[in-house]
Amino acid sequence: MRGLDQKPVIVTGGASGIGKAIGLRLGEEGARVAIFDMNEKGAEAAAAEIRQKGGEAWAYKVDITDYAAVARAVDAFEKAAGQVYGLVNNAGWDEAKPFIQTEPDFWKKVIDINLYGPLNLTHVVARRLAEQGAGRVVSISSDAGRVGSSGEAVYSAAKGGVIAFMKTMAREFARKGVTFNTICPGPTDTPLLASVDASGGGRLTEALTKAIPMRRLAQPDDYPGMVAFFLSDDASFITGQTISVSGGLSMHG
Ligand SMILES: NC(=O)c1ccc[n+]([C@@H]2O[C@H](COP(=O)([O-])OP(=O)(O)OC[C@H]3O[C@@H](n4cnc5c(N)ncnc54)[C@H](O)[C@@H]3O)[C@@H](O)[C@H]2O)c1
Repeated sequence: MRGLDQKPVIVTGGASGIGKAIGLRLGEEGARVAIFDMNEKGAEAAAAEIRQKGGEAWAYKVDITDYAAVARAVDAFEKAAGQVYGLVNNAGWDEAKPFIQTEPDFWKKVIDINLYGPLNLTHVVARRLAEQGAGRVVSISSDAGRVGSSGEAVYSAAKGGVIAFMKTMAREFARKGVTFNTICPGPTDTPLLASVDASGGGRLTEALTKAIPMRRLAQPDDYPGMVAFFLSDDASFITGQTISVSGGLSMHG
């Protein structure tokens, strides 16, 4: 990928699953990677793995729902690695249950992590990118945000919100050298899917696999290529786009 060498890039939720795979790939591409995760040990382990493979990485314990903590961590990363160039909004969370059985406290947690998290990070980072006249924001949403997902009503609403938010940011920043794009994973073999399916005894995973034209769950490594592309110089004329990486589960014109 062109243009990633030595670029400071933040990956939220980089301690596990998809975010960890993204961090490793960006490290291989030469980016200076910041892992922002509330799982401190996991973040440190992911950063250590990137360094072990010859990359540059820093770990920060951050709860993305806490605006002040996000701003402090971005400042600390910039001191260590230079002015931030890229942001990957990846951290997310859900627990599958029918909407009717959920309560406002649960909705708040889901929206705080999946929508406020990206709002906080993007608010802190986007103005810095605009000041330098260059930068990239990539958000990991979900096919749930495009086509819905039974048992994930509030999560789907938050993920749909992320897609619309990225499009609007793409418009507001179109002449400032900053692009905003969204990747929608389908069901992926990570701890998140395992916990969502915990009460179903694997039945949800089985049903989802059958619905995927390529007949397999995604693996975390299915995403980093698309993330690296959106962050690269080759994607400089692409903004406000949403792409599903989900084995054909959802197809959009
Ligand atoms: N796994 C799937 O099937 C699937 C499908 C579609 C979309 N996604 C999306 O992909 C992204 C990554 O998911 P994953 O499956 O790798 O999940 P995961 O649970 O393996 O990893 C999520 C990471 O986010 C971190 N995190 C959660 N809340 C946080 C917070 N408040 N502050 C900081 N860090 C926080 C966790 O500690 C964890 O390290 C999420 O946005 C998720 O919604 C996943």
